[in-house]
Amino acid sequence: MTNFDKIKKINESSVFMNDKNMIDLEVLSTKQIDKIIKKAKKIMQSPADYRHACDGKILATLFYEPSTRTQMSFQTAMLKLGGRTIGFDNPMNSSVSKGESLKDTITIIGGYADIIAIRHPIEGTAMAASLCTDVPVINCGDGGHLHPTQTLTDIITLSCEKGRLDNLKIGVCGDLLNGRTVHSLIKTLAKYPNNSFVLISTKELSVPLYIIDILENNGCKYELSNNLADAISDLDMLYMTRIQRERFSSEEEYEAQKNVFVLDKEKLKKAKEDMIILHPLPRVNEITVDIDSDPRALYFKQAQYGMYGRMALILLLLQDEDFTVKNKTAEISEHKCKNPKCITQYENYLPNLSYKKLGMTMCNFCDKRIN
Ligand code: NCD
Repeated sequence: MTNFDKIKKINESSVFMNDKNMIDLEVLSTKQIDKIIKKAKKIMQSPADYRHACDGKILATLFYEPSTRTQMSFQTAMLKLGGRTIGFDNPMNSSVSKGESLKDTITIIGGYADIIAIRHPIEGTAMAASLCTDVPVINCGDGGHLHPTQTLTDIITLSCEKGRLDNLKIGVCGDLLNGRTVHSLIKTLAKYPNNSFVLISTKELSVPLYIIDILENNGCKYELSNNLADAISDLDMLYMTRIQRERFSSEEEYEAQKNVFVLDKEKLKKAKEDMIILHPLPRVNEITVDIDSDPRALYFKQAQYGMYGRMALILLLLQDEDFTVKNKTAEISEHKCKNPKCITQYENYLPNLSYKKLGMTMCNFCDKRIN
């Protein structure tokens, strides 16, 4: 019986979910996050020791949206662990093009693979997929919502390059509304003591309110800025992001936003000597190419760290019995989520799942307020 069937059967308040999924890093304790980082560092030091760690195991990469780094670093991670990979990077070459539901695709692939990595343009899809199979599901990006393994990449870079995840002044710049990497990163770094944030964006692309709520609940200092040159001077890390063209409803709206924040040599002159520059990539033109040779520009190295983080995550989810992921509490709710970008609008067999936060009812799939 899959978890989805279990949910359908349980017509009461508490819902069973697999505890081996990586949908949202927020549910991990800092101890668990540190365990992933530690494991990644161990693998980096002696990769040969892990060459057969996943012999006979299969990773399925289901990419319903374009990807270079996330998909290939997951595939490489599994190959380096001795496992093999299956999957698609163009759903139109799969039965999705014939109208197959997410539930059916995931149920079938869960019978072929030992672990599934999924990217999808709709918010909450990885969570929905995790209800349809007993094998671990990893969220590789669900619309503009979350991207936990990019955050793993980012914090492993921070840990290796700055030596700490706390006491940092963090600048995040670009499309803070639609950038899922930013949402996951802020949620995670807000857990560590004494981090403060400068959120640099236009008014139109500022962070969603639920992210501000998280900062406030964690007692984090934050400021909003629309001036990169002014904000840069006392940052320990600057996280640049591209404007997410594919999430805009019109080309005009994108054009109005696309070149507002560009990190160039002139602005970088004002930054601290030891400020690091990260970017989840792909870069469009928000960092000029002449910055690439600056020792503070770590975005290419960051992508390398990501592969080790993904190796560590695969190992912990598949092999470490003590590494269990506590799910957000979920209740079957009478109310349907109203977010037009939520998976519940597309896959209508999904139960209405909600959880309570600060007296509000939130959708378990997309984390938006239900009422
Ligand atoms: C990011 C993504 O897909 O959200 N890319 C990545 O996974 N490294 C960032 C982006 O596309 O802008």
